[in-house]
Amino acid sequence: MIQRLAVIGDPVGHSLSPQIHMTWIDGLALNASYESIRVPTGDTAQALSEFARKKFRGLNVTLPHKQAVLETVRSQSPAVRAIGAANTLTRDSSGLWHADNTDAPGLMAALARAGITSVSNSKVLVLGAGGAARAALFALDQAGADLVVLNRTAQKAETVLKDCCIRTHLSGALDDLEGYIADADLVINTTSVGHSGNYIQLPKGNGRLFFEMSYGDPAEPQLGHARSQGWEVEDGLGMLVCQAAESFHIWFGGDRPDVELALDVCRDTLRGQQ
Ligand code: ATR
Repeated sequence: MIQRLAVIGDPVGHSLSPQIHMTWIDGLALNASYESIRVPTGDTAQALSEFARKKFRGLNVTLPHKQAVLETVRSQSPAVRAIGAANTLTRDSSGLWHADNTDAPGLMAALARAGITSVSNSKVLVLGAGGAARAALFALDQAGADLVVLNRTAQKAETVLKDCCIRTHLSGALDDLEGYIADADLVINTTSVGHSGNYIQLPKGNGRLFFEMSYGDPAEPQLGHARSQGWEVEDGLGMLVCQAAESFHIWFGGDRPDVELALDVCRDTLRGQQ
């Protein structure tokens, strides 16, 4: 029987997930399909029972359903519980959903691709305290990093640390960036500042890595500025493909699929959209 997979969200038309997964499905000649399906806000529970009835094997979940799915699933991984959001659902043999969050391992795999194979005792500065930051903080805390979280709204930075981390870390206001960044071995920008065409002002990087979680046009102003200040830069496309590889591994087992192949496909698509 064909294994049906999909990404659900609203909007979802822009998602690169079908291309990424179909690259691997076709490459491995698997009897599977991967669609993108629009599910409006408020329809999450109904949609999940419908997908279970249609015997979908798995779902990727994007905005606005990453938290809402937790009300319906039968079980959640420890990462999902700490982060408070899921991006991967798998249907079990009794038709119930299990929730995983592959953004956390996806970030660590993307950092490894960028040459950061260990963050144990490294000073990592995370900018932002929204949904994207939560998965990053959970992953980095588990990997033994010393974290500082700065957010436009400082109070949210403190809250997110309490929610997602076991170890003690520092938090503060984004306005105090200059005071913290000198010590940082690595900076990760999880804010959505690029979506309004703006960027966060940085001092000199001296060859340190600035990891930007967004990709495509919204990432460009921040990446260009970081480069001009002497930072090594990495955009979020690697993380997108690495989290997809983790989802694929959950559904199909075996080795992780070919990340570089799917990345090439994504970069071609984004170039074609310019
Ligand atoms: P996501 O799920 O992508 O993380 P989100 O939960 O809406 O999206 O979080 C957006 C993050 O970007 C927040 O940390 C937000 O800061 P506030 O908590 O103060 O709102 C941050 N952000 C958005 N626009 C920003 C801007 N222009 N400057 C700085 N930070 C910004």
